[in-house]
Amino acid sequence: NWKLTNYIEKTVAEIKEKVGDNKVILGLSGGVDSSVAAVLIHKAIGDQLNCIFVDTGLLRKDEDKKVMENYGKHFHMNIKLVEASERFLSKLAGVGDPEQKRKIIGNEFVHVFDEESKKIEGAKFLAQGTIYPDVIESQSVKGPSAVIKSHHNVGGLPEEMEFELLEPLRELFKDEVRKVGEELGIPHELVYRHPFPGPGLGIRVLGEVDAEKVRILQEADDIFIEELYKNDLYEKVSQAFVVLLPVKSVGVMGDERTYEYTAVVRSANTIDFMTATWSRLPYEFLDTVSSRIINEVRGINRVAYDISSKPPATIEWE
Ligand code: XMP
Repeated sequence: NWKLTNYIEKTVAEIKEKVGDNKVILGLSGGVDSSVAAVLIHKAIGDQLNCIFVDTGLLRKDEDKKVMENYGKHFHMNIKLVEASERFLSKLAGVGDPEQKRKIIGNEFVHVFDEESKKIEGAKFLAQGTIYPDVIESQSVKGPSAVIKSHHNVGGLPEEMEFELLEPLRELFKDEVRKVGEELGIPHELVYRHPFPGPGLGIRVLGEVDAEKVRILQEADDIFIEELYKNDLYEKVSQAFVVLLPVKSVGVMGDERTYEYTAVVRSANTIDFMTATWSRLPYEFLDTVSSRIINEVRGINRVAYDISSKPPATIEWE
């Protein structure tokens, strides 16, 4: 596709010109935008790009390994993996209110990111995967990446962080970002991932969050997503995930009575994420997902399917 190739060549040249022999820092999240921005910038300046990947402990199962494998090993990008799970979980301990949790996660992310970026000496630029819709709706963005955005963007950079911004995707819509990503050689599956909220599983473990609940949710979610791919349904829905309720119910396994958590399977179809309908997933498929979750995930003995549309429900549960 000549238009994409042109776009990439032009942008790579612009990045080279702008950055010169300076260093660039980028917060890699595993999401589409930051990944495409990273690969594009890496193509232009190679090891002058320093990526920071923060494992908040609230990511999807094995996300840290996948990111290091895909972008570290495959694209040979320079990525610092920051293992910060305990920091996030200890700050979240005992907190049940969704907005409070969002604030804690966002603030902690900024702290960790600031600390790490200070360790990269002489960095002049901060790169971000800001895309055109983010530019227009800059007040409605949410989550850690957005916190970083507003932190550095709106009202100027904090004094001690004198970064210049590098936002190579600023003029692109999501579908264009995906095309650029594929053209750059990022696997199709990664470029077409569903959106994942900045606060991550912190708002999908309802109420108080702890390591055990996160583990349970990661396992259940991973099964659901795996089955969606296996049955060719992943790209037919807009966003799919599992929510862990703080509710236990009675069940029976073999001869034993169980008393364990309830998981909710959620899948939404939407164009703009402002309104959404629940995905009409086949019963047989839901049956498979339910059986697998209950049989394979220790800690869950009941699965429900969310059949609420937005509005009045939201896509997330918190
Ligand atoms: P709701 O739940 O409001 O979600 O219907 C609409 C879209 O926004 C995502 N979402 C978030 N993204 N930080 C984010 O980065 C957040 O705090 C947040 N809350 C919701 C949600 O996943 C869906 O794609």
